Amino acid sequence: MVLGVLGSGSGSNMQAILDAIDAGTLDARIAIVLSDNPEAYILERARSRGIETGVIDCRGFKTKFPEEAQQETAARLKAAGVEIVCLAGFLRLVKAPLLEVFPERILNIHPALLPAFPGLESWKQALDAGVSETGCTVHFVDEGMDTGPIILQEAVPVMADDTAESLHARIQLVEHRLYPAAIRKVADQLQAGMSR
Ligand code: GRF
Repeated sequence: MVLGVLGSGSGSNMQAILDAIDAGTLDARIAIVLSDNPEAYILERARSRGIETGVIDCRGFKTKFPEEAQQETAARLKAAGVEIVCLAGFLRLVKAPLLEVFPERILNIHPALLPAFPGLESWKQALDAGVSETGCTVHFVDEGMDTGPIILQEAVPVMADDTAESLHARIQLVEHRLYPAAIRKVADQLQAGMSR
């Protein structure tokens, strides 16, 4: 499977996907990594691995993912031969132009047990709500915010002495296992569909 990754930040999930590929537990290749943030470390990580990178021009909008930018992103992903798109810490909402080009082929990782705590800083939301467990979820992306069908999720206990940082770090450890496993599951399903 040929993967394309979109991210806005550090890219530790992309690194985990690369590590799974290197370890032979995920039969895939990351063809391209795109970011809306030219400074994002995810681009640095990709470059150091010789992976094609690019910056998505969001026309000065702070949070919106403008339609033209989505069309350009879709075109770049297609040109790179991408079959599955992985959002890994990508902070803009993907809408119709991109979803239509990759129907049921865009995945996202979210640091909570969806449908609980959608949106930003879900680990803080979990702490504020006083829940005894939270977790992480890989789901298909649809038009909503963190609403698409769930592929895999795993619980993470909240400890009495957890801070936002310690809880997020523990969730991320699980994310790094869960994302490659979810990609494997989707890739297997797609391949089974193709050979039918
Ligand atoms: C992760 O916690 C993910 O769940 C959320 O954004 C964070 C991205 O981290 N969507 P990284 O860039 O993969 O390190």
